Amino acid sequence: MWKGRFSEDIERTVLDFTQSLDLDWRLALADVICSAAHVRMLSRVKLISPQECGAILSALKQIADEIKSGKFVPKVELEDVHMNIEARLIELLGSVGAKLHTGRSRNDQIATTMRLYLREELSKLGLSLCHMLEVLLRCAERHVDVVVPGYTHLQQAQPISLGHYWMAQFWAFLRDSDLLLYALKGLDESPLGSGALAGSTLPLDRHYAASILRFSGVAENSIDAISQRDYMLDYHHFAVSFMLHCSRLCEDLIIWNTSEFGWIRLPDGFCTGSSMMPQKKNPDVLELVRGRASQAIGCFVSMATLLKGLPMAYDRDLQEDKRSLWASLELLASVTDVLPPLLSRVDVDERRALDAFRDGFALATDVAEYLVAKGVPFREAHQKVGQAVKWCLERGRALNSLSVEEWKVLIPEVEADLIGLLVPEAAVERRRTFGGTAFAEVRRQIKSGKGRLEKALSEFEVYRECVLEALLGQVFTFSVS
Ligand code: ARG
Repeated sequence: MWKGRFSEDIERTVLDFTQSLDLDWRLALADVICSAAHVRMLSRVKLISPQECGAILSALKQIADEIKSGKFVPKVELEDVHMNIEARLIELLGSVGAKLHTGRSRNDQIATTMRLYLREELSKLGLSLCHMLEVLLRCAERHVDVVVPGYTHLQQAQPISLGHYWMAQFWAFLRDSDLLLYALKGLDESPLGSGALAGSTLPLDRHYAASILRFSGVAENSIDAISQRDYMLDYHHFAVSFMLHCSRLCEDLIIWNTSEFGWIRLPDGFCTGSSMMPQKKNPDVLELVRGRASQAIGCFVSMATLLKGLPMAYDRDLQEDKRSLWASLELLASVTDVLPPLLSRVDVDERRALDAFRDGFALATDVAEYLVAKGVPFREAHQKVGQAVKWCLERGRALNSLSVEEWKVLIPEVEADLIGLLVPEAAVERRRTFGGTAFAEVRRQIKSGKGRLEKALSEFEVYRECVLEALLGQVFTFSVS
């Protein structure tokens, strides 16, 4: 394409080194759509005739069909997706096809094409994330009344509703959906018409092209438009956060599934055995999700370091933005595929869970707060109950096995009404502060969570209306009158 200025052919090794087809051929349909919008705009501002526009559009439609059927085999010699498609157009139309690139650079072209493609990919991912949130809500509903030990420092702390735990996971993943939406909003303005960096001497109508591509707006500055990849970094931020949340969730389930904890059971179909030890059932899926979180972090770092040190404008380095992006998207698609069905089948052994409260120490805070309600200052109450715990430890007694008489010797303020409070269910039921673990409070959370999920879902749905397939159905329709 740039033969004019050069006096020798490009070296083969250079061709192989600089080509990007392995990374960008998946953008082919998005690129055709981008070209169709551009050519319609060229016709509107009379840079090409309606007849030429019609001819280019029908050739582009044919090219789109060739891409879909796999008939279009791109050539490495043509370097990238953009030049392959343009060359095919010229092959089909001759000099009319050569008008397509009027007022356009591959810099604004790739910036636009990536946004079109990602708009679809990220909204798809958003819907998968919503599905995972829905599964977490259902887990919460199923386990509202199941009482399990809650941990801090991985030491037993206080009894909680398992529904409360699932909702804690839900809120974290809901925030992730906000991060993903933020990335989607960030990419929702059109760079097309920015040219190489400075715009064009030709009377391009960027707003018209943007409306065909169903962007909400037009990027304000042509230099910024072709150089910024902020929405990619935003996506990677989301991906890191999401995978860290997955890792944390998996880690909990791995621990609770050990024979030492043992109060959840994972579905057999989501576990693997040992080649040597016949008794083994390993939580490999959870371990791999936890392990692969590192890749999402790697992709984020890869993207950030790619951007670091670039001068302000297009630099070929940016071609590499796709590598980490595709790897990360593929990872997240696989995780959102495998994790929800596993989660929906986590079984609870309620007897084992209650068994975990054997020593009763998880109820110590309840005794201290009971004393506060009787007028004892909290620090004093804390001290007294600490001594009671020590007394129990020395005698191998459970904290909730003490008779009223024994309590009275240790803490004179205790009365008979304490005994009924020292069961895990009561400990949960009485934590009624807003956002606390009380059963009723968890039910309130679930209801509120459902509303928030519906809102997130409808926000992702909006982007689903401009998927590539929908745009392909509209973008070639053009009247030559
Ligand atoms: N293959 C390039 C990329 O993905 C397209 C833009 C090339 N622009 C250029 N001036 N060489 O970034």
